[in-house]
Amino acid sequence: MLKDANKAILVCGAINLEKFKGYWILDCSAATENILIAAHAKGLGACWLGVYPREERIAGMKKLLNIPDHVMPLSLISLGFPAEQKTREDRYNVERIHHNKW
Ligand SMILES: Cc1cc2nc3c(=O)[nH]c(=O)nc-3n(C[C@H](O)[C@H](O)[C@H](O)COP(=O)(O)O)c2cc1C
Repeated sequence: MLKDANKAILVCGAINLEKFKGYWILDCSAATENILIAAHAKGLGACWLGVYPREERIAGMKKLLNIPDHVMPLSLISLGFPAEQKTREDRYNVERIHHNKW
């Protein structure tokens, strides 16, 4: 979809700035989701394209954008004006809901 997207945002974590080891993944995931929600609120279409932990995508992004070793790309968000309206799937499965304990 990137070929036809107007813009893209690469969400990266600066590993050297991490306070708690491994949290960059959670922080960048939350940032990605927030960008998706903000895009939707503005009437834009956006999609989370997973980069981390796929080695070939990490290496590709790092090479393409000259990203230093201490910075890790987590997601690439494609952004644009939506060209289609997807129907909502109902995937609710009561067996996956657990109350108080598993
Ligand atoms: C971690 C993660 C990685 C994803 N990577 C891709 C991807 O590489 N290519 C893609 O087309 N969509 C990707 N998506 C988007 C999903 O395919 C899907 O469109 C999105 O999560 C919407 O969720 P839904 O299927 O529950 O509506 C990714 C989503 C997540 C959360």
